[in-house]
Amino acid sequence: MITLRGVVGGRKVLLVFVCLVAPFLYLLLFIRSGDSGQCQFVTSRETVVFGNDGKAHSYDRSSPFIFIGGFPRSGTTLVRAMLDAHSDIRCGEETRVVPRILQLAAQWNRSAKETNRLHEAGLTDQIIGDAVAAFILEVVVKHGEPAPRVCNKDPFTLKYGVYLLKLFPQAKFIFMIRDGRAVVHSLISRKVTVTGFDLSDYRQCLTKWSNSMKTMLKECEELGPDKCLKVKYEDLVLHPKSQMERILKYLGLPWMDDVLHHEQFINKPGGVSLSKVERSSDQVVKPVNVEALTKWVGAIPDDVVHDMETVAPMLTSLGYDPKANPPNYGAPDPEVATNTYDVQKNHDKWTKTVENALHKSKHLS
Ligand SMILES: *[C@@H]1O[C@H](CO)[C@@H](O)[C@H](O)[C@H]1NC(C)=O
Repeated sequence: MITLRGVVGGRKVLLVFVCLVAPFLYLLLFIRSGDSGQCQFVTSRETVVFGNDGKAHSYDRSSPFIFIGGFPRSGTTLVRAMLDAHSDIRCGEETRVVPRILQLAAQWNRSAKETNRLHEAGLTDQIIGDAVAAFILEVVVKHGEPAPRVCNKDPFTLKYGVYLLKLFPQAKFIFMIRDGRAVVHSLISRKVTVTGFDLSDYRQCLTKWSNSMKTMLKECEELGPDKCLKVKYEDLVLHPKSQMERILKYLGLPWMDDVLHHEQFINKPGGVSLSKVERSSDQVVKPVNVEALTKWVGAIPDDVVHDMETVAPMLTSLGYDPKANPPNYGAPDPEVATNTYDVQKNHDKWTKTVENALHKSKHLS
């Protein structure tokens, strides 16, 4: 009897479940999948691109995007060119608009008054995030060829790394780091304008570089080592093989020798697409070499060199001796030494190669 009652009781419970709880659960699942109701969001927007092979490539916010960041003039173009030589990766030119939309989104969040106005108008963080993510997805995916791994290089995106990861949870970041003295010398000698930087003032530029690097380092550390890989420009040009091995392993991609010969893929289909007007294009036409490593030595005013430790405290934090002019960055691998010799010995030939490559870049104006 007891057993029977137990069974009956069990059936009752089941009946109650089926009649009352299950429809509720079903409704809950249904609503959460975004199919019903007036205010449900579907955030898995997909964007599809057809490749030259006629194959459809589709991307959404859960695609494993690669974001390359760092301070401008720190080898972000070099690393993206080397990755572009890999058949599974497409990075492409700087979009310029990706960091700008991120900066705008951050501005909307900065004042409590503005945030309140947006919330009063029904614009939640989620809606803004969805809109910003859709913008970035469209731009990053459609401005170049499709590839299994699409990558973006706009140096300052890393300032918003943590937010970007919220928008694209499967993304991975590469943070390029370079000796700030070389960075600032490059900005000044090449007249590369960066908002807030006074190109007539080494001291001011070095301090600003240091502050900017502090912000980016903080973002990178908050992302953690699985999501943000730090790569030193000096290590990349001195030891391209071991550094690219490290980078590809981090990205979960197979090794390819092509990444060590990016200069052979300039403006080729599936290769390294270059912009005529981007500042680093002329440099990445050449093979990896150490020409740019110590050009800054002797160019920085003595008083700034003297105060370097306090002018740019991030030098020390990042492992660059502020008192060494220059520090010992290490000896290049043999192939890099050969490349450097070739680039210097055949200077005129390389100048022509650069001119041809940039003249032939695909979007002729
Ligand atoms: C705005 O602030 C909220 C709350 O701190 C945060 O969840 C959201 O990610 C922020 N958005 C941006 C664009 O920084």
